[in-house]
Amino acid sequence: MKIGIVGLGIVGLSTGVVLAEQGHKVVGIDIDENRVQGLNCKRSPIYDPGLQEMIEKNFNNLKFTTDYSSLSDVDVVFITVSTPTVNGKIYLGYVFDAAKKMKEYLSDSIVVIKSTVVPGTARKVKDIVGENVVVNPEFLKEGSAILDTKSPDRIVIGSENEKAGDIVEGLWRFTGSTILRTSLEEAEMIKYAANSFLAVKISFINEIANLCERIGCDVNVIANAIGMDKRISPYFLKAGIGWGGSCFPKDTLAITSFAREVGERLRIIEAAIEVNEERPKRVVNLLEGLLGSIKDKRVCVLGVAFKPDTDDTRESIALKIIDILKSRGAIVLAYDPKARTNKAEMVSKEECIRDSDGIIIATEWKEFYGIEDLLKGKYVVDGRRILDPSKMDRTRFRAIGLGE
Ligand SMILES: NC(=O)c1ccc[n+]([C@@H]2O[C@H](COP(=O)([O-])OP(=O)(O)OC[C@H]3O[C@@H](n4cnc5c(N)ncnc54)[C@H](O)[C@@H]3O)[C@@H](O)[C@H]2O)c1
Repeated sequence: MKIGIVGLGIVGLSTGVVLAEQGHKVVGIDIDENRVQGLNCKRSPIYDPGLQEMIEKNFNNLKFTTDYSSLSDVDVVFITVSTPTVNGKIYLGYVFDAAKKMKEYLSDSIVVIKSTVVPGTARKVKDIVGENVVVNPEFLKEGSAILDTKSPDRIVIGSENEKAGDIVEGLWRFTGSTILRTSLEEAEMIKYAANSFLAVKISFINEIANLCERIGCDVNVIANAIGMDKRISPYFLKAGIGWGGSCFPKDTLAITSFAREVGERLRIIEAAIEVNEERPKRVVNLLEGLLGSIKDKRVCVLGVAFKPDTDDTRESIALKIIDILKSRGAIVLAYDPKARTNKAEMVSKEECIRDSDGIIIATEWKEFYGIEDLLKGKYVVDGRRILDPSKMDRTRFRAIGLGE
């Protein structure tokens, strides 16, 4: 089949290269000329394991352009543009813009919305492009985007036009994953319910961590024990500095504000957001508890990506921590194996540790595990619970959810 992909972020690229590997001819469109140029030179604009290799390996089936007329003979076109929140509400302008731009080139093509959109959006896209609209939300995780696209836990296909739904189902059958057919609105809602539930789970354990710090318990012991209950499961029960990234913060805001607009409140999700917003301040307070005032002190932040194995810093809690450190007068150094920020002076890991008074571990990159010896003599806050407390000088060490 000939496939169009509109929006070449991590979702569009992963979808595109995986379908190209299945033998489909894929044309990727983006409004960002630099991105398109780089891709045409086989350069991935994003770091995610295996993505660069997949672009190289399947290049014969891939074409990248800014020109929407390349969609003229596609069978299926995926909309994978950004859906950010602006002033706490979802901004759907990129989705509608993409739909309007592609409209004149579509013949009988199926338009698949993969971007995360609030319920009712597909219906509006239908008004622009016609009846053949399908909602196929994406559940990939950055850091394992290709693997997740090839074998997702489930595939959701929302459609009113059965034949269009069948064709999209056929595209993904190779994954062997369970495929669920739903209405348009159910498919849109499933994505928000899934992300919000995960965000709530993390905020839940983070609140338990706060209490543990106060009463001398270790939240990891509690999380481990409750995670053994199959009804709870051990996943997303790691206490830490809070959830960031390009999805949870914007999706929880989008669905709570959407709910309010239609006359409902999602109080548990609103509370999870509130708990999360306090996290960066708590982490800095832990460091201040060790160092006293951090004014004019040098602080090293280890990790700026919102999670390991990605260079994505969107809504990264590490960046919020850096802002708070600076607002309290600290001089901030940072190190990350892949991600960059201009909010702090980026240096090597060794310099970052050597040249600072205090250290905050903000992202659990593999290379930060087992560095207890390197941190000797420093004041350390482990925001990700990757260090072994028994190997640390407890007068100079604090960790999330670990009471003194
Ligand atoms: N990042 C994730 O982990 C993830 C996971 C699941 C779902 N999602 C959802 O998928 C969607 C895309 O996410 P992403 O992180 O890949 O986005 P992104 O912001 O990284 O990339 C989107 C791309 O779309 C391009 N674009 C914007 N408007 C366009 C237009 N009119 N025509 C062509 N290109 C256009 C941008 O230039 C950009 O390159 C979002 O709705 C997001 O919520 C993301």
